[in-house]
Amino acid sequence: MSGGKWDHLVLLYQECATQGSIAMHLPHKGLLRYEDHHRLLLEMQHGDRWHFLLSLKRDLRGEPQEGAQLGWTRANTMEVEPLERRSANGEFSSYVYPRDFGSIPVPDAWAGYLSQVQEIASTRVILIAFINIPLVAIVLNILWQLLVPRAKTDPPVVFHWIPIVGSAIEYGNDPMKFFVTCQAKVTVCLGPKGNNFVLGGKSTVFNAEDAYTHLTTPVFGHDVVYDVPNEIFMEQKKFVKFGLSTDNLRAYVGMIEQEVEDFLRNDLSLSTYQQNDVTAWGSFESVKMLSEITILTASRTLQGSEVRGSLNKSFADTYTDLDGGFTPINFMFPNLPLESYRKRDRAQKKMSDFYVEFIKRRRSGGGSGQHEHDMISALLDQKYRSGRSLPDHEIAHIMIALLMAGQHTSSATGSWALLHLADKPDVAEALYQEQLKHFGVNGRPGKFRPLTHEDMRDLPVLDSVIRETLRVHPPIHSIMRGVRDDVPVPTTLAAPSSKSGSGSYIVPKGHYVLASPLFSQKDPKIWRNADAWDPYRWNDPEGVAMMALKEYSDETGEKIDFGFGAVSKGTDSPYQPFGAGRHRYYQFAYLQLGTIIATLIRKLEFKTTTGIPEHNYHTMITMPKTPRDIHYRRRHFD
Ligand code: HEM
Repeated sequence: MSGGKWDHLVLLYQECATQGSIAMHLPHKGLLRYEDHHRLLLEMQHGDRWHFLLSLKRDLRGEPQEGAQLGWTRANTMEVEPLERRSANGEFSSYVYPRDFGSIPVPDAWAGYLSQVQEIASTRVILIAFINIPLVAIVLNILWQLLVPRAKTDPPVVFHWIPIVGSAIEYGNDPMKFFVTCQAKVTVCLGPKGNNFVLGGKSTVFNAEDAYTHLTTPVFGHDVVYDVPNEIFMEQKKFVKFGLSTDNLRAYVGMIEQEVEDFLRNDLSLSTYQQNDVTAWGSFESVKMLSEITILTASRTLQGSEVRGSLNKSFADTYTDLDGGFTPINFMFPNLPLESYRKRDRAQKKMSDFYVEFIKRRRSGGGSGQHEHDMISALLDQKYRSGRSLPDHEIAHIMIALLMAGQHTSSATGSWALLHLADKPDVAEALYQEQLKHFGVNGRPGKFRPLTHEDMRDLPVLDSVIRETLRVHPPIHSIMRGVRDDVPVPTTLAAPSSKSGSGSYIVPKGHYVLASPLFSQKDPKIWRNADAWDPYRWNDPEGVAMMALKEYSDETGEKIDFGFGAVSKGTDSPYQPFGAGRHRYYQFAYLQLGTIIATLIRKLEFKTTTGIPEHNYHTMITMPKTPRDIHYRRRHFD
């Protein structure tokens, strides 16, 4: 660049004290952009006449800076073209440069400096853009919401400051509070009618893959669950359902009971229990303990002996890295150049290879251990309607999906249940008495016959405890679907307030809809004392709770086969902890939780000194916040 007008002025000062002893007075606007021991870079307004005064103070020893010299720099040579000196008074050297900068030619020799100046200028442009673009976007977003008329059919939008992010932060901090505040404005999907609208919709219209695949596929792996068309996934669900045969569930109860008893006997966190002392109280961290018991029992039953035998540090590390990909951040941003994302991808590959390796061993007739009841042996025998068998990687990825989908949901529910039992000793006592009544052996203290699958169907207190825990703390508080076609909202659910009284909202294609079991399960218009954990509400056969359950799982009610066997529709019910419609899920979880809680209550008394924790909505699955320790005491001697 040569000639032309100046945008920048580079001042070089030499032999000047290096400790920031220069004061600069700019009588006009201008920006001091850069300073080091030898240079000042002033950014000047293009074409302006600029006057400036630069004063040199005394140096650090208090001596006037005689040798200080100001001037134009000549490239990197450090040669200085002196500025016109107008005044000096022993203590100060003041320079006034009254020239019209617009007329100063730019010698070629200055190119080095100028490129540096340009670099700084473009950094500045980037910086300004960095600050201003979001500001402009926010302003435009607000104006758009306030001024741009919306089509009468567009569902109302909750006012939000930040575009794209929308209300996600408010919602993520406390979904229930967000729903309650917005209900007047956004009614589309809330309540039983909202649930029915979203969960009862066709998958060609309200689609789960579109809402979840970016989160689940990097964790589960390809070609399963939400990475395949819905009809294929429904076939995969049928295969899993086949694995959860009554025979297998029967076998699982004993395995889970045994696994929990082993844990009590051996885990370091239960050392007080292991002392065989019925007076001493110990304590455990509820989520930590339930997480361990959940993975132990799931791997002993569904996952198979290879996984159970591999629950060592290396497996735990891989699991932790994979789990690190299952967070709200991953949901918002599926791929970021962050280490946690790279760890997720490496862990997925490692976990997948691990399963594939022993699937191959099993196929070739090798491998040790008994496999007859686990899910892998069920999947090995399955075929799609097309006649195709499941390849190794699909079996591996279904197993990873089951592992990940069941882990936090079940451990969160178990933790909440124990925390409430610790908080309400009367309910814990009722639960214990129920175990005594059904399984006690000749009144001998601490002696129970083993649990069985058949018995588990007739334990009303245990049922009430699990049901109520899932009502107050559904681990999945929101269920989403991607909208594949413009969908009119039934006017009975919500309609624009039009004077003519006609018209309906249309949820546009490409949007998402959300149903919230949390909302309908805690709606005070439906549930008396909705926030209270009260298992006794499930005792009244005519009460709201049992009516909701009847609607949810009514054996005699309407059934639909979505491709994995007939299930009750349940989309109308205000109680839907396991979702509803084609994506509903529950059998194994209920059995696993029931057996864990029953086994623990037989052996332990609980209490809490910190009460019931708040909800942590920042995790994908709603967890109790800390502190969440539970104190325990052994009920009986061995
Ligand atoms: C208390 C425990 C659990 C709760 C409350 C729970 C809740 C749910 C809910 C609400 C959904 C529906 C999501 C939707 O419609 O978008 C779901 C789906 C699913 N759950 Fe669970 N779950 C639990 C335990 C488990 C366990 C133990 C497993 C595996 C063994 C599991 C595997 C799955 C799978 C594979 C799906 C996807 C089903 C589909 O989209 O069709 N869940 N779960």
